[in-house]
Amino acid sequence: MEKCIKPVGVFDSGVGGISVLRELVKQMPGEDFIYLGDSVHAPYGTKPLDEVRKLTIDNVRFLLEKGAKSIVVACNTATSAAVARLREMYSDVPLVGIEPAIKPAVLHKKDSCIVVMATPMTLKQEKFQKLMHNYDNMADIVPLPCSGLMEFVERGILDGMELTEYITKLLGSVRRSRIDSIVLGCTHYPFVKDVIQRVAGNRVLIFDGGEGTAREMKRRLSEAGLLNNSGKAGNVKFINSLNTEEEIKLCQFLLTYGDKN
Ligand code: DGL
Repeated sequence: MEKCIKPVGVFDSGVGGISVLRELVKQMPGEDFIYLGDSVHAPYGTKPLDEVRKLTIDNVRFLLEKGAKSIVVACNTATSAAVARLREMYSDVPLVGIEPAIKPAVLHKKDSCIVVMATPMTLKQEKFQKLMHNYDNMADIVPLPCSGLMEFVERGILDGMELTEYITKLLGSVRRSRIDSIVLGCTHYPFVKDVIQRVAGNRVLIFDGGEGTAREMKRRLSEAGLLNNSGKAGNVKFINSLNTEEEIKLCQFLLTYGDKN
C-alpha cells in the first residue's frame, strides 16, 4: 500500500484523546485516522509508571500493526511516561506526543497565575517538572492533580450537578480570584471545559494542547512526504479495548460534540 494513504494512528487511555482527534481531523480532513481508546485500563494517571509505559508501548505496537503511518500519543500521561522510550524504539515513525500548553499561557500574560490541571502521573514526571521550571520565573505556575476527573468523561458525563460540585471543590484548593488562566493538561478535560469555565469565571482563559499537537503532526507528515494528497475526504475508525457498542457510540458522540464546541 502506498505509504501516504495509510492512516494516522491516535491513542489515549480512553475517550479523552478524541479532543485531539477533532483538531487533527479539522487540520487534515483528507487523512484517515484510527483512534484507539484503552478504556479497559483507564485511568493511566494513577497507575505505576512501569505499567503505563508498557500499556503505551502496546498501544503503539497495535496501531503500527494496523498499518498506521504515524502516531499521535493523544494522552499527556502516556507522553510524560513513555515518549522518550517510544522515540528510541520507533525512530523511523513520525511520532508526536502532547504536553500541557504552559507556553501559550505564559506568553499570553506576563507574571500571571496559571493553574495546570492534569493527572497525578503527568505532574510527577521529570518531563513536566522541567517544563514548569522553564517558565517558573515568568509566571506563578500551580500544578493541580485532578484524580477522578477523567472518569466523568469516560462515563459520558460532561455537565450536571455532580461534575460541577467536583470541579468547584477541586478549584477551591486554589484561591480563585488569583487565577488568570487554566491549562488543561489532560486530553479528557476539554470535554468539560464549559463547566470549568463556569466555575472559574469568565475572565479566566483556558488553554489546551490539542491544536498545537495536530499542527505538529501535520508538519511532521509534510516533512516526511507522508501527507495524503488524494483530495478525498478521510474517515475515522474507532477501536476501544472495551469493545462495546456503547463505547463506540460515545466516541462518535464526542467527535461531533467537539466540532460543536
Ligand atoms: N487523557 C489522559 C491524559 O491526557 C489521561 C487520563 C488518565 O488515563 O488518567 O493525561
